[in-house]
Amino acid sequence: MARTLLVTSALPYANGSIHLGHLVEHIQTDIWVRFQRMQGHTVHYFCADDTHGTPVMLAAKTRGLTPEAMVELAHAEHEADLKGFRVAHDLYYSTHSPETQEIASELYRHLKAQGLISVRAIEQYFDPVEGIFLPDRFIKGTCPRCHAVDQYGDNCEVCGASYLPTDLIDARSALSGAIPERRFSEHHFLRLAECEDFLRQWTRAGTIPEEAANKLEEWFKTGLTDWDISRDAPYFGFEIPDAPGKFFYVWLDAPIGYMGTFKKLASIQGLDFQAGWNADSSWELYHFIGKDILYFHALFWPALLHQTGLRTPTQLFVHGFLTVNGQKMSKSRGSFITARHYLNHLDPEYLRYYLAAKLNGSMEDIDLNLDDFCARVNSDLVGKYANLASRSAGFITKRFAGCLATTLSPEQEQLIASFRTAAPAIAQSFNARDTSRVIRDIMHLTDQANQYVDQHKPWELARDPEYNGTLQQVCTTILSLFQLLTVYLKPILPDICQRAETFLGLSDLTWEAAVNHTLLGSSIQPYTHLVSRVDPAQVAKLVTVPQT
Ligand code: 2FM
Ligand code: ZN
Repeated sequence: MARTLLVTSALPYANGSIHLGHLVEHIQTDIWVRFQRMQGHTVHYFCADDTHGTPVMLAAKTRGLTPEAMVELAHAEHEADLKGFRVAHDLYYSTHSPETQEIASELYRHLKAQGLISVRAIEQYFDPVEGIFLPDRFIKGTCPRCHAVDQYGDNCEVCGASYLPTDLIDARSALSGAIPERRFSEHHFLRLAECEDFLRQWTRAGTIPEEAANKLEEWFKTGLTDWDISRDAPYFGFEIPDAPGKFFYVWLDAPIGYMGTFKKLASIQGLDFQAGWNADSSWELYHFIGKDILYFHALFWPALLHQTGLRTPTQLFVHGFLTVNGQKMSKSRGSFITARHYLNHLDPEYLRYYLAAKLNGSMEDIDLNLDDFCARVNSDLVGKYANLASRSAGFITKRFAGCLATTLSPEQEQLIASFRTAAPAIAQSFNARDTSRVIRDIMHLTDQANQYVDQHKPWELARDPEYNGTLQQVCTTILSLFQLLTVYLKPILPDICQRAETFLGLSDLTWEAAVNHTLLGSSIQPYTHLVSRVDPAQVAKLVTVPQT
């Protein structure tokens, strides 16, 4: 059945660079999207920069830029970085867009008309020097529980206590160092408790991983509190339609940015915007996110969509965090690796391969171990996969003018058929985002193919003209196995596999057609290099060179 899928990765903030943490998610999404496209489904994959909020506003100020100018610079950088890793968005847009503003205002009016917005004054810290209300992260002071100094306004990194910024002892503005004043101002709230019944049912309907649903259970138990969706001027964001001086909190318009971005894409490509978002939409909607933003995507976002009469996400695909050599990425240890820094030293497909080998569709954290990274790429991609082609192609080109055999022995046919039989299980793992299993299965097959090479030794057959026919058949068998491995690796390694397809004389086929394709009687191009060995010296530069 023809399916249409809307797919997103979480929107990166405009105040920082794309780093390896983002890449886990964007690469995971891109692999899934490429796989679904190979299945013949229509996939619209889009993303955008998350542009609003105090951190962006302050980062722009520090750089002497307007927020709009900073957001533009970040957009160009982010888009180029993600392209560098072959992430194939149909559109990489921005939440600072007329489409997102229009939809955010419309949804807000809708919520208000239903009595789901309440307004009341709350007391917050205000920086009298900077003239702004301070988000929790911009307040520092002494922990009210363990008395550790220099702790943030929301929780203590020493004893783990969570508290209100107004509980901090000796609170100071992290921006100006001034003693913050307590000031009242009116805020707009979404009455989330009204959506509890719907959310309880939605989160248990197979939309989120079970481990995530259990986590949400804790939030339901403590009760859903009203969600503060407004911030006071000065704030870089969208002004609330009927509330001058009040702006939508960045986390309100960020997910609406998914819709705004699709609206833009729809206008560029002539697609039906409404068909994707109507309550009865037959299209599927998938959000790839990290476990840290589950709260927003599993509570606020579906509540907002449901209450405004729109469709809700089909599923949230939640992944864990990335560590580098077993530790959290850290600027001081030099292990905070930006996308650009990586691209300056290494082939993006190495990372795609390694991350795919680690990701299994669960919320577990994954580790990038740099020694393992070198070993794995060199052994799997260079030593096993590319080796199959490089050891057999030369004979076909030199001895048979590039022509492959027209018939094979029953044993050879059988071996190729057994590689074909693996397709449904591999497809199922791709679908479940269990690329770790995909790669295990592919490498198991690759080992079998290499055993075949070792047993039949084309280089020995080539010494005796009597075995010419056998040599052509053996090399044709090896290349047929290589072709199937190429199909299976293609969502993970788009460039390498495209080079392999060109060498095999193949066009861009769907999964089904590529799995059932036979190379018998066709000709190949002379073999050209497919993938280079990783140089450990380049890998070492990832973590030792100071980053700018
Ligand atoms: O956590 C983050 O990096 C956010 N910028 C993600 C936003 S995703 C979506 F809701 F917009
Ligand atoms: Zn403490």
